[in-house]
This record gives sequence, structure tokens and C-alpha cells, in this order.
Amino acid sequence: MEIERLSFHNPKGETARRLGVLAAKVLGVRSLFEAFAGGGSRTLLYARHLSLRRHHVNEGNRRFLCELLYRYLREELPADTLTLSVEDFLTGWRRFACSGERYDWVDLDPFGSPSPYLVGALSLVRPGGFIYITSTDTATLAGRRRGDDVRLYGIPLRGWESHAELGARTLIYTVWSAANHLNMYARPLFTYYEGYAHRLLVQVEDRRRAEGIGYVHRCSGCGTYFTAERPESACPVCGEEAKAVGPLWIGPLYDRALLREMESVARNLKWKKALKSLRLIGGEVDAPMYYILSDLRLPSTPSVRSVVRRLREGGYEASRTQFHPGAVKTNAPAPEVALAALG
Ligand SMILES: C[S@@+](CC[C@H](N)C(=O)[O-])C[C@H]1O[C@@H](n2cnc3c(N)ncnc32)[C@H](O)[C@@H]1O
Ligand SMILES: [Zn+2]
Repeated sequence: MEIERLSFHNPKGETARRLGVLAAKVLGVRSLFEAFAGGGSRTLLYARHLSLRRHHVNEGNRRFLCELLYRYLREELPADTLTLSVEDFLTGWRRFACSGERYDWVDLDPFGSPSPYLVGALSLVRPGGFIYITSTDTATLAGRRRGDDVRLYGIPLRGWESHAELGARTLIYTVWSAANHLNMYARPLFTYYEGYAHRLLVQVEDRRRAEGIGYVHRCSGCGTYFTAERPESACPVCGEEAKAVGPLWIGPLYDRALLREMESVARNLKWKKALKSLRLIGGEVDAPMYYILSDLRLPSTPSVRSVVRRLREGGYEASRTQFHPGAVKTNAPAPEVALAALG
């Protein structure tokens, strides 16, 4: 049986899996808990590339776990470090937490929203440890499911075109909020968006902090995005009414030093797609949200490269963004982006 034929093996998820492994390698992860292992695509990758002392693999469906074990043993991966369990993680995490074990890394790869499982993951990670989270609930995070946004993420979202980053910031806030209720703090090390899923790596500390939480605004007049710790009513550029979304994460999305180290490991392993993604996200400027050039409705849409260049010539920070191939991320106000797009 080939890995591609394992239950729930998702070929589209390869880069996300590899980004997880690269980060775990750089961060020196030695103990790892997987809550939703499926057929084991991640399990095998983690086991091959990390020198784990403990590897707890949980999956709700016994059949998938048998398949996983078969493959694991066939590859002669280190079975003496392996613990397998079949539990519904929604309630089963309590049993694992009671054993007192805490892990460097918890992998949360459920179907849909990870929100119901965050307390479990936070209870199993050691202070200073990491949680690698997937959400395939992109429709809710894009503001397309009224009611579910508040129920699962605690925020009434807006269906802005820049929903991919809004969703990422919302997801981070949800993790931060769950951590905060447990007197912990969670901050992102990177976020990775693939259209059908958000991936997020956070580091967890055992003290409470509000740093990084605030509101994203969009001006109804000029379209400029800006952030503030409290909801504002007026745009700082043109004074028109601003619409706020939040509370959510307004801090940096990336730990640049980690991304650079991941790049170097990806280069050694010749993981080209992961390397390409790391270069893209590592090059993003630290500005809230992004402007989609085709939304400017110009007679012809300019290239991202040319608009980035003109904004930089004008003294602004500007870059492409992983969240949209036709968008520009910049600290310039929206009217300046429009001018740069006009050429
Ligand atoms: C997205 S798949 C996991 C894919 C896997 N991590 C991989 O890399 O291939 C989600 C898995 O979660 C399992 N699952 C769903 N609900 C669960 C629950 N409450 N507790 C434990 N496992 C569950 C499903 O059986 C499925 O295998
Ligand atoms: Zn304005």
C-alpha cells in the first residue's frame, strides 16, 4: 500500500505537512501529540524527520489507525517511542491530560473548525510548546456563515474581499482567547493559507497577556485598512466612517527568524514547494490586510510587481501576499495604492 492510498491522505496538504515538519525540526521538537492522525500522512513524516522521544498518535477511527501502524512498521520507523490511542478527542483529551504528560508539539488536524478542540490541545502542550492547527472551515472564516462566526470564533465577521487574512487573524484570536481563559498566551509563528484551509502554528506561554489583540477597520470612503486596540469610528486618512471587525489578532503574523531557518532546512531537503511558500510569506510586509488590484476597476489591471515597485519608490512598504495572488500588501493608504496602480 502506498502512502497516497492511505485513508484521508490529502495530496493537496503536502506543503502544509512539510511546513509543520520544518518548523518542528528547527524548534527541536522531541515529543509530539497528534489528535487526528487519519491514515498517518503526517505521522509518518514527523517520525521520519524528527528525532522523537515520545510520539502519541490518536485517531477516532480504529480502522485508520491499523492502516497507519502497518505502514509505520513496514517503514521500520521507531516504534518504541510510539503510543497509539483510539479516542474521540473532544472528550478523550481529559484522559491524556490526567496522565500528566505534556508535549513540545500538539498537532490538531480535524475536519472543519478546530475551535471545539483548542482547550484539549492547550491542556496537552508544555509551557513554551507549540500547536499546529488546521481549519478547513474557510466559509465561516470568510464571513459567509452568519451565526457560526460568533458561535465558533466569537466574532461577527464581515464578507470583505480580503477575507483570507481576516480569517487567519480571526483564527489566531480564537486560539488566543481559549489560551487566555486558561491563563495562557498564544502567539502565531506563522500562518499559511491554501484556499481550502488555514494552517497556523502558535507558541504557547503559561502567562496571560492581551498583546496583539485589537480591531481591523476598513474605511467606507477611501477603502483604507487600519488597526487599533479599540474600535474607531473615523478613517485617519479621509475622516469617513470606518467599519471595525474584532476583537481579533492585529499583531505580526510571522516569526521571521523561524521562517529563515525553515527556509534553510527546506533548501537542504530540496522541498521546493515549501521553499517557495516560505519565500512568499517571509517577504510579506507587516501591514494589515491587502488590496486586490482587480477590485480597483481600472481599464486594465496592473501587475502586482509594478504596483509594489511604485509604492516602494514612493517610500512605502509593499509586497505580494500569500492570501491573494493579485493583491498588494502595504502600509500605504488605499488612495496611494490606486495612484500606484494607475502608473
Ligand atoms: C483531516 S483528517 C486527519 C488527516 C491526517 N492528520 C493526515 O495527515 O492525513 C481528520 C481525522 O480526524 C478523525 N476524527 C474526526 N473526529 C474525531 C474526533 N472527535 N476525535 C478523534 N478523531 C476524529 C477522522 O476519522 C479523520 O481521520
Ligand atoms: Zn478613508
